Amino acid sequence: MSSSIPEFRQKDCLNYFGPVEPSFVTVAAKFLASCTDGAEEQLAQSLDTFIKATQADCVGTAREKEHCWFEIRVDRPKEDFKTPRWHQDGPMRTYQEAAEGEPRSKYATTLLGPCTLLLPSNPKILETQAYVALREWLADQFEDKEPINLTNRNIARFTWGRDDSPVHSEPNIVSDRVFITVIYGSQDEIQTLWN
Ligand SMILES: [Fe+2]
Repeated sequence: MSSSIPEFRQKDCLNYFGPVEPSFVTVAAKFLASCTDGAEEQLAQSLDTFIKATQADCVGTAREKEHCWFEIRVDRPKEDFKTPRWHQDGPMRTYQEAAEGEPRSKYATTLLGPCTLLLPSNPKILETQAYVALREWLADQFEDKEPINLTNRNIARFTWGRDDSPVHSEPNIVSDRVFITVIYGSQDEIQTLWN
């Protein structure tokens, strides 16, 4: 096993691949404090709460979820999602064979700004999975659908790579936004993501 994880990649967003331990929350809070006007200590507390709640919810033994891919995205207003990008998340990483039958999830929360759009149920229409080609058409089809009313700090669990994985989209980013996600796995599983 390479000794080079944990690793932080920090540009417009912060990505961390490595063990779930307090030191990465400290670094993540520093990053957030550097690009928002939030107090570092409070940010660290919010991040810690998010990590503890999601790791506890994640299925698997302690070993199967001792590592994570954690991401913070800080966005300024932009028009990229004026047209929603409805999609289901595909497989995020390889499964270890023993865990194949288990639902795997990505957890997300919005600390500031517009929240993820999440449809309350999956329409049959998405069986084609041609989300990119059909983006405009899907936006049109779902125009009248009322997304679930997520608010800041609500944690959403998105199963991925399943037929019934939730249909969602980035929101129209009309104001500053801080969005956080995490995926848990064993050391080997998480390592496959950052290589
Ligand atoms: Fe997604």
